[in-house]
Amino acid sequence: MATKGIVFDAYGTLLDVHSAMQRHAVRLGPNWEAISAAWRTKQLEYSWIRSLTGPSHHRDFAVLTKEALEFVAHRHGIADLGLLAEISTAYRALDAYPEVPEMLRAIRAQGVATAILSNGSPDMLHSAVKAARLELLLDEVMSVEEVGVFKPDPRVYDLAIRRLGGDAGKLIFVSSNAWDAFAARANGFRVVWVNRSGQPDEYGLRAHATELADLRDLASAVT
Ligand code: LAC
Repeated sequence: MATKGIVFDAYGTLLDVHSAMQRHAVRLGPNWEAISAAWRTKQLEYSWIRSLTGPSHHRDFAVLTKEALEFVAHRHGIADLGLLAEISTAYRALDAYPEVPEMLRAIRAQGVATAILSNGSPDMLHSAVKAARLELLLDEVMSVEEVGVFKPDPRVYDLAIRRLGGDAGKLIFVSSNAWDAFAARANGFRVVWVNRSGQPDEYGLRAHATELADLRDLASAVT
């Protein structure tokens, strides 16, 4: 079936979430990678807990990202508020993985739409897409804030399906987060799992997804 659009997860898939702490690695010390990983884990945990607790407990991803940073800072004894402010600012301008601009260009050259579907708040996504100079390479940037609940709630994936023509079978979802790829598949998308760090299979994804080590070969893999 002809592909009409490719929907990307943002954080961790197009954008390197660890680039914010990496820029401040010297001040964070040799443990910075573990601290960054803990920040990411907490941020996602907060998103799942708030979604499951119910709509009145929803806060946007910018709030959860800040709360998660405060938690890991306490946990690791980071008391430098100036440093934390700089890390928060850096998160609004994360590095895109180096192959991303060329890959998006190659997909659009084939007449296939490109889109983001992300937990990020509209403001965070706008800032990140602009900083990574991706704004002219994306047809849609969709935030979960439109439905007020985080991934993997089906309403999130349904938002992208509706926005991109209503037929999930003509759409491909690309994520480096196995749980996100699994949920997209459960909602009818064809799925590419970008397994950058060689993680073992989860959710039986390998049987249902195309697995790539990065995004360089995405355009040829999907067309
Ligand atoms: C996102 C998170 C899951 O961008 O990385 O939606």
